Amino acid sequence: MSQHFASDNYAGICPEALSALLEANAGHAPAYGDDDWTRRVADRMRSVFETDCDVYFVFNGTAANSLALASMCQSYHSVICHELAHVATDECGAPEFFSNGAKLLPTSSEASRLKPEDVTRLVEKRNDIHYPKPKVVTLTQATELGTLYRPEAIAAVSQRARHHGLKVHMDGARFANAVAALGVAPADITWRAGVDVLCFGGTKMGLPVGEAVVFFDRELSEDFAWRCKQAGQLASKMRYLAAPWLGMLQDDVWLRHAAHANAMAQRLSRGLVALGLRLIAPTEANGVFVDMPLALEEALRGRGWRFYNFIGGAARLMCAWDMQPETVDRFLVDVKELAASMGI
Ligand SMILES: Cc1ncc(COP(=O)(O)O)c(C=O)c1O
Repeated sequence: MSQHFASDNYAGICPEALSALLEANAGHAPAYGDDDWTRRVADRMRSVFETDCDVYFVFNGTAANSLALASMCQSYHSVICHELAHVATDECGAPEFFSNGAKLLPTSSEASRLKPEDVTRLVEKRNDIHYPKPKVVTLTQATELGTLYRPEAIAAVSQRARHHGLKVHMDGARFANAVAALGVAPADITWRAGVDVLCFGGTKMGLPVGEAVVFFDRELSEDFAWRCKQAGQLASKMRYLAAPWLGMLQDDVWLRHAAHANAMAQRLSRGLVALGLRLIAPTEANGVFVDMPLALEEALRGRGWRFYNFIGGAARLMCAWDMQPETVDRFLVDVKELAASMGI
């Protein structure tokens, strides 16, 4: 299948992750995470984050987010999130399910980024016994709208969360794209900025499968292994979930691939703007969100292009780690030709 913009999940496994996976396929290894590969990746993760964090591997982002959130609150608590957050819109109620009922408290704010005042507003909205007590704030980095939180913005939300007695969770399905785009140390946009738990996305970054749950507040990881097992998220052949991370985290491979995906999104974004189209959010990571007349979208799909519409309507064009500049340019040529033929 040729390349598409539908999702960064459409891309295959990057070569470095694949060779680590193949290397891990030699001989026997202890099961359920008691193997050298898993230990080595967890150690590598601690050096990437420059701190003594606890690391777990699960199969997907929904499990990572919902199990992480469940470990951060009780069933009578609530989780403050942006209304466009994946946890609220695309996880089929899994955060509520795995926390036995903790409620999501969605709010809206510009460019899909929560602000300190959003936290205060929701915390102070009600504090009576009839309302689920706010306990966690969740931020998505990069956001569902392809925007980024700068380290100061995360720190500001975290400080406000702390002030109200809340913990901070980060959905980092596209954490690599954020680190590459911001040019910061991973620690600067996580624990140094007050994040307690990070769901570090592996799949979109180029792994075959799997995400890591990284606990900077290690008290929160107590019993997390049992939570994973109960949820069907404890891989028996854990080395296959873990090993590809080694290929990815060595020599900044993950950041190189993510930087490439971001650069392709910039190329696409600049090209679309030059053709007179309007972005609904600035292109800051690997996604481009652009307003397109419906007829143009349909004509592009008619030429075989695949992409989704974002909640609210704009076209969502995602660039994966392997996106080729030629693919971006072919898409732009098609947009130009079709728009001209429609008089747009
Ligand atoms: C912001 C965000 N979080 C998490 C996920 C992970 O979801 P999944 O359960 O499909 O791995 C995605 C995938 O689209 C996402 O965009």
